[in-house]
Amino acid sequence: MEPSLPLAIRPARFEDAAAIHAVTQAAYGEYKDTPTPSMATTETERLVADGLRQGAFRAAVGEVDGRIVAAVRYKVTSNGLLFFRLAVHPEWRRQGFARALVEWLAGEASRLHTNRLWCQVRLPVVRNVEFYRSAGFTICGEHTILRNGHPVPVATMERKVREAVGATSGYLSPGYSRGSSVRGGEGE
Ligand SMILES: CC(C)(COP(=O)(O)OP(=O)(O)OC[C@H]1O[C@@H](n2cnc3c(N)ncnc32)[C@H](O)[C@@H]1OP(=O)(O)O)[C@@H](O)C(=O)NCCC(=O)NCCS
Repeated sequence: MEPSLPLAIRPARFEDAAAIHAVTQAAYGEYKDTPTPSMATTETERLVADGLRQGAFRAAVGEVDGRIVAAVRYKVTSNGLLFFRLAVHPEWRRQGFARALVEWLAGEASRLHTNRLWCQVRLPVVRNVEFYRSAGFTICGEHTILRNGHPVPVATMERKVREAVGATSGYLSPGYSRGSSVRGGEGE
């Protein structure tokens, strides 16, 4: 992360659910009126709160002057740290905030003793694929999902990270299960 960035990144707390929901809706709003909208566009605040509380995922938030302007969800799976719902508020884009969150996730993967970051990206959203490429990710698989009856090609993208030696994982969420495997749609 650039030292000059005003973004402060930290693990989310349960009470951040409303702000995480708000920034995710603002970010994914651009996909709302497309024929194959991301499932993120219909997520409720309750689902975010329940997911955090039940340990279905963790989240990190990025703050500027105490206001949450970026967020990402993640979980450790049997094959690395999966992240999804990477969101930067439209008013705060192209300042390296998403890149900073990805670098924070790389550190988190290392702290949690995994050596791989991975995510799922819609292939037609070329700028996102290119963003991840420029952040050191490569495509390691492709599959197709159905949204509203339409096929959407999705790439799995990965980046190797150095696993920390002797680190402790810290802040495990209640109910969190390391090593759970995840299968399915796009990691959006
Ligand atoms: C995708 C998304 C998270 C990117 O957020 P962002 O904060 O704008 O991303 P960054 O600023 O870190 O990087 C984006 C681009 O801006 C460029 N950039 C970074 N700082 C910049 C600056 N100061 N001036 C101009 N451009 C800059 C980066 O080089 C990068 O370009 P690249 O892809 O060619 O490398 C954001 O657009 C978003 O929330 N989209 C909707 C949700 C979504 O699609 N999420 C991803 C699902 S896979």
